[in-house]
Amino acid sequence: KSVLLSLMEGLAKVGVPKEVLEFLFGWVEGGGVYAKIPEAKGSIKAVRSVAFFIPLYELYLTYGGIFRLTFGPKSFLIVSDPTIAKHILKDNSKAYSKGILAEILDFVMGKGLIPADGEIWRVRRRAVVPALHQKYVAAMIGLFGQAADRLCQKLDAAASDGEDAEMESLFSRLTLDIIGKAVFNYDFDSLSNDTGIVEAVYTVLREAEDRSVSPIPVWDIPIWKDISPRFRKVNAALKLINDTLDDLIAICKRIVDEEELQFHEEYMNEKDPSILHFLLASGDDVSSKQLRDDLMTMLIAGHETSAAVLTWTFYLLSKEPRVMSKLQEEVDSVLGDRYPTIEDMKKLKYTTRVINESLRLYPQPPVLIRRSIENDVLGEYPIKRGEDIFISVWNLHRSPKLWDDADKFEPERWPLDGPNPNETNQSFKYLPFGGGPRKCIGDLFATYETVVALAMLVRRFNFQMAVGAPPVDMTTGATIHTTQGLKMTVTHRIKAPIVPSLQMSTLEVDPSVSLS
Ligand code: HEM
Repeated sequence: KSVLLSLMEGLAKVGVPKEVLEFLFGWVEGGGVYAKIPEAKGSIKAVRSVAFFIPLYELYLTYGGIFRLTFGPKSFLIVSDPTIAKHILKDNSKAYSKGILAEILDFVMGKGLIPADGEIWRVRRRAVVPALHQKYVAAMIGLFGQAADRLCQKLDAAASDGEDAEMESLFSRLTLDIIGKAVFNYDFDSLSNDTGIVEAVYTVLREAEDRSVSPIPVWDIPIWKDISPRFRKVNAALKLINDTLDDLIAICKRIVDEEELQFHEEYMNEKDPSILHFLLASGDDVSSKQLRDDLMTMLIAGHETSAAVLTWTFYLLSKEPRVMSKLQEEVDSVLGDRYPTIEDMKKLKYTTRVINESLRLYPQPPVLIRRSIENDVLGEYPIKRGEDIFISVWNLHRSPKLWDDADKFEPERWPLDGPNPNETNQSFKYLPFGGGPRKCIGDLFATYETVVALAMLVRRFNFQMAVGAPPVDMTTGATIHTTQGLKMTVTHRIKAPIVPSLQMSTLEVDPSVSLS
């Protein structure tokens, strides 16, 4: 590090304002004081031909933990270094916003928790996080079990009829049913039905994903955005979802008004433990539009992510029968034929490691997006405000410099008696739920959800890639999808069929409210 750089950092630490430092040191920038960020030239075409994070991995091996990628007038900083990732996400997080992500997601999430920045984000985060308290998450275990059991029944039929199952779309429906109930007590029942609302959710999701990989914002072109059939369909879908959410909010408000309410930290309505109910009961002073944006954000954030985790976990297991046997052994001995309970979550240690390892190999989303809103220094490089940054979690999680046998699916890399791996105890080389103040609020929820679904499925069935199944290649939107689905042959395990019996301690969630 140069003397001038150390001096500047020293002055910044003792509180010399940034403007003064810029005035004093601005002239030396580019004149040899700072190293220049390595620059990789790319073309959009090359990046769009495969899932875009794959070429970024090759470039990382050549250019290192931070480099600049320029196409035409656009340029991005690609970060794959744990210390720099920690600096951006945690140590100096106030200097970064969600940037492009907020622009892309505006049409669906508005100022919801994921895209929001600044004061709006701070206020909403403080209001929403308490809703996911321990008692709520424990109650959700019952919901996860019942939803997974409905999927088991569907697979029972496929196994008996000798039909292959496309697991990716089934997981997407499973997690949609779960998140609808968990966030606003709505039963999409998408495992059984294809109602208009389910189709509307998928239309909006696909649109959000298309926008996140599209280099040209066609959705901003005046007139076109009002007349193109694609955008008209998206707008109709959005209207249906928004109207449904407004109805649910109104219904829930009425129920809360009639309730003899004694609100406290772990408040939960037993009939409707949803996040929406908590927020309304808490007296949260929020506009209906903001509440809707937050509900929509959680619907999307908690749906495709968990579905993708299950999809890639089953793909990985199909290639490692050793891991599958060990997993089934644990599930049989811990659960027997019961529905899982909160107490089981601590005991299903290997099952949890399988999910941890699946999230390492297939992080959802594979990159985190930020924009600098102040000048800053990343490692040894100064950056200006307004830089668009991609933190490649894919690169961090698969770096040969950071992991032994980085590409190997090996749940044993984390000892069963050790702590659950997270960004803190893995020094930001493992970021399954992000890190710092913008870390995922649904991490525990999602871990339990995927553990319960995995456990219930593998105790009842064996899964193999179907004969003649299409190759499992990756494509990306917000999460990593397969290009042509995950077609599996599902067979009953050779042991007495397990029909779980509901325990009284497992909280039953009431059937959904019906919409007037
Ligand atoms: C944020 C991953 C499930 C709600 C995040 C972030 C990641 C992530 C990596 C950080 C994004 C960033 O820093 O830019 C996942 C994964 C999930 C999952 C892998 C499933 C396995 C859920 C669920 C919910 C949820 C179930 C809702 C209950 C959110 C919200 C944020 C977030 C609201 C934004 C937090 C903020 O900016 O303050 N998630 N998530 N996620 N997640 Fe999740």
